Amino acid sequence: MNNLHIIDHPLVQHKISLLRDKNTGTKEFRELVSEIAMFICYEATRDLPLKEIEIETPIAVAKTKIISGRKLAFVPILRAGLGMVDGVTALVPAAKIGHIGLFRDPQTHSPVMYYSKMPDDISERDVIIVDPMLATGRSAKAAIDEMKKLGVKHIKFMCIICSPEGVDAVREAHPDVEIYTGVMDEGLNEDHYIVPGVGDAGDRIFGTK
Ligand code: URA
Repeated sequence: MNNLHIIDHPLVQHKISLLRDKNTGTKEFRELVSEIAMFICYEATRDLPLKEIEIETPIAVAKTKIISGRKLAFVPILRAGLGMVDGVTALVPAAKIGHIGLFRDPQTHSPVMYYSKMPDDISERDVIIVDPMLATGRSAKAAIDEMKKLGVKHIKFMCIICSPEGVDAVREAHPDVEIYTGVMDEGLNEDHYIVPGVGDAGDRIFGTK
């Protein structure tokens, strides 16, 4: 199965290294998440359909291409996914944004959805779910389940760092979903944090702790 895309561009790798540094402060961390999201989104939108049009340049009529057809929505998983929204909308300003909120049930450790607000026409849009860390894959799976329940047919998942466990979990549950990431790390620790990772991405984006 080849639905994992690792964006190994030097700029992405360089910025991920800065993100990992525990001495990187909130402002810089937030900027880096946004910038990396923009670069990864560039690849995640590579297959957007084009149509040919004619434009008059000052010299001649040019047959040229514009994006056509399918409309896009980005769906950040609250709260860390919010850190990627500025970057992806800088590339696709016409996209709509849905939000999905999940918390982990303390007993079952399963994700429970506490918030879902989507554009009315979400079932007609291609959806790119965004969350910086794909760790156990449980939140990603739950978010993808919700999109499918709402009738979305084309779904991608975008993160900055993934674990092998998270990728396996998403692939097993949703083999049709393409995953875009900057890097795959070693694995998870006992607290389900990605190793070496960046720590808690939400806390580092929002300056909480
Ligand atoms: N969420 C985070 O913010 N960091 C991890 O390492 C795993 C999940």
